[in-house]
Amino acid sequence: METKTTVITPEQLGRQQAFCGRVRAYWERRGRSPVAFVDTYGCQQNEADSERIRGILEQCGYGLTDGAEGADLVVVNTCAVREHAEQRVFGNVGALVHTKRRHEGQRILLCGCMMGQPQVAEKIRRSYVHVDGVFSPHHLWRLPELLFSVLTGGKRVFFTEDEPGAIAEGLPVERSDPHKAWVSVMYGCNNFCSYCIVPYVRGRERSRRPEDVVAEVRQLAEAGCRDITLLGQNVNSYDGGGTDFADLLAELARLDGDFLLRFMTSHPKDASKKLFDTMAAHPKIARHIHLPFQAGSDRVLHAMNRRYTCAQYLDLVAYARQVMPDLVLTSDVIVGFPGETEAEFEETLSLVEAVRCDALFTFLYSPRPGTPAARLDDPVPRAEKLRWFDRLCDAQNRISEEKHRAYVGRTLRVLVDGREEGLLTARTNGNRLVRLTGGDDGLIGSYVLADITGAATWSLTGAVVSPDTP
Ligand code: SAH
Ligand code: SF4
Ligand code: F3S
Repeated sequence: METKTTVITPEQLGRQQAFCGRVRAYWERRGRSPVAFVDTYGCQQNEADSERIRGILEQCGYGLTDGAEGADLVVVNTCAVREHAEQRVFGNVGALVHTKRRHEGQRILLCGCMMGQPQVAEKIRRSYVHVDGVFSPHHLWRLPELLFSVLTGGKRVFFTEDEPGAIAEGLPVERSDPHKAWVSVMYGCNNFCSYCIVPYVRGRERSRRPEDVVAEVRQLAEAGCRDITLLGQNVNSYDGGGTDFADLLAELARLDGDFLLRFMTSHPKDASKKLFDTMAAHPKIARHIHLPFQAGSDRVLHAMNRRYTCAQYLDLVAYARQVMPDLVLTSDVIVGFPGETEAEFEETLSLVEAVRCDALFTFLYSPRPGTPAARLDDPVPRAEKLRWFDRLCDAQNRISEEKHRAYVGRTLRVLVDGREEGLLTARTNGNRLVRLTGGDDGLIGSYVLADITGAATWSLTGAVVSPDTP
């Protein structure tokens, strides 16, 4: 498939910078310091985009706030991956009618993957008239221009034309955590799994230049960032013109600094032995891979257009574990793909038992208008699918707990990353959550050695032994 990449030119970005200045001037004339609230749904890609949106808004003179009430600007960054996600967005956007009424001049913008679907943008145009502007993921870099038109033009603005997809380097960014960062390395997806909306809303695959990624990661490492996750819908098909994803990882892992590199998501058809060898060779690459298998029946995998078989998946995992015995493996599974039979579902259960992932993210199939799977017959009733779903969760919860119990008694180097319900939280190299007793907030952002004392399905408990600096 063609992967032509358009890079937004410095002139185009300069024009947007000028719009930032005009928005700032708009507020200065009114003697106001405006505040904005950015509400994010969906995956890490959207989290990363929202950090760019916040960066742009700061350049436009906005302070940031954490609720819609009283904000001068509300930006809702939406997700289209399942119907449930969309319904939540529609519900919450509907409720903004009231916050807007209470705050004269409040502007509401919608963006993200839902806005990449023409019928959704149309529904917003017709039925959500309190929404002032809409931009799809392809137009994120044009936010200053859109915002200026919304503030001064007196009419609603829609930036939703389908674009081939481009890369905008050098957008400002307001990162939410100084110790953990997302770094997009590629955008879009060419895989067209038959159930999935992402390729339609995020466009074709395009990769950033390796030197741009290296510069960003170097800067983060120098600033003391500890945990850097490389993002892409399909990171393993990264194509940096002679630099593949494993090469990129190796180059980043040679940078100075006390940090770990992670990446997601990997597609089994593109995750190579070279990738696993590279991970095994570099201590700065976390021993964790998120490698979704989606289903355990070869017929269903074929119908999903996944382009691997269960046997190939198992071979890949066996190789990865051979070179990295301590590898943490997580995966996604869809239950109830159209036409999936109970026997085929049982094959998924068997695969779950055979693979023994550390954690599994399970989803009930959700038809997405416009995708091939949405046109298939789907005769199994929802109640039946929910029974399968519960069986799958029971099986995986048992496995996750068993896997977690094996940590008890070990002493691990973990990164303290926050506080929740009175306890410090931390992440192991493999990204398992540890709730820590002892220690104080001064440790947030540092590595500590922790004795693992207990295990549950989704987390471990541990005690801080000592700070750990290399
Ligand atoms: N590019 C990533 C993430 C895609 S979305 C990947 O390929 O894994 C994250 C997960 O949502 C997918 O792995 C899949 O398990 C699930 N998903 C995607 N579309 C879905 C749908 N229509 N119904 C239910 N789950 C879906
Ligand atoms: Fe969707 Fe498949 Fe692309 Fe993942 S690889 S984003 S599941 S089409
Ligand atoms: Fe959702 Fe878009 Fe991510 S559809 S899962 S926010 S790429």
